[in-house]
Amino acid sequence: MYVNTKDILEKASKEYYAVPAFNINNMEFFHAILDGALEKRAPLIIETSEGAIKYAGNGDIFKGARYFVELVRLFADSVDIPIALHLDHGKHFEYIIAAIKAGYSSVMIDASEEPFEENMEKTKEIVKIAHAAGVSVEAELGQLAGVEDNVSAEESVLVDPDQAKIFVEETGVDFLAPAIGTSHGAFKFKGESKLDYDRLKKVKELTKVPLVLHGASSVLTEYVKMAEEYGADLGGAKGVPEDQIKRCVELGINKVNTDTDLRIAFIAGMRKYLKENPKEFDPRHYLGAGKKLVKEVVMNRLEFLGAAGKA
Ligand code: G3H
Ligand code: 13P
Ligand code: ZN
Repeated sequence: MYVNTKDILEKASKEYYAVPAFNINNMEFFHAILDGALEKRAPLIIETSEGAIKYAGNGDIFKGARYFVELVRLFADSVDIPIALHLDHGKHFEYIIAAIKAGYSSVMIDASEEPFEENMEKTKEIVKIAHAAGVSVEAELGQLAGVEDNVSAEESVLVDPDQAKIFVEETGVDFLAPAIGTSHGAFKFKGESKLDYDRLKKVKELTKVPLVLHGASSVLTEYVKMAEEYGADLGGAKGVPEDQIKRCVELGINKVNTDTDLRIAFIAGMRKYLKENPKEFDPRHYLGAGKKLVKEVVMNRLEFLGAAGKA
């Protein structure tokens, strides 16, 4: 069934497990994620970036947002696991409104690059609009390092726990993404991954809301190696080790944003298939090979985050 993201995350927060939120841009990733969640009997959060919405709508963001709602609802309504659709990193008012109007379960207002007061004002405004439509809201405090399409910040600025308390109380936001040292993409760290667990613990104690970890891909060696074996160049790729993510879940993270791991698995599967089947040109076959590995990654995440069996 299609549900509000808040319902999924409040249960996870009470029971101290996390639900991965998987980014999609197209049908194939969605099918793979859905199949993985059904097999693991897990609640599911599907999320799309602004870039994904623009892409799916072939440039029209209202069509793009509707495309994802129709796709997700079509399948969610006929299965018995809870499924939510979330707008990831909403930075522009028009995308947030498009997602709310189309029927997303939740939206993120990401004004994290703005000064604290401005972030708070913008978040408050979106909370008012979204809540009136029965849509829950995520916001971010602090900044993640790393660069992606629409998501960039040169250096991390970690969350201030006292500000987090004020922010949650004043804005009425439903879940919060505190920056604790992760970054987006496949090249997260030059040295070792170091997350600020004490800071995370304080934020949970002071806010008590479900917390979100962005930039949480593990960049699994197995898939990086496979992709490289068949022609990819991913030298220096590094993610957050799974045991570090597990520690974050113990300390109060309930939503674990995952995009890069799926992208790497997909490209590894597709490259291998194309190399081994040079005569093949049916998209269902080469895309299907990518899908198979995405499903593996999904099932592994659902398991180690504790979401398996929670549907
Ligand atoms: O955090 C960002 C997501 O990984 C989406 O990135 O803008 O390339 O779709 P994107
Ligand atoms: P990764 O790039 O680590 O998968 O993070 C994705 C993310 O935070 C989406 O919001
Ligand atoms: Zn993110």
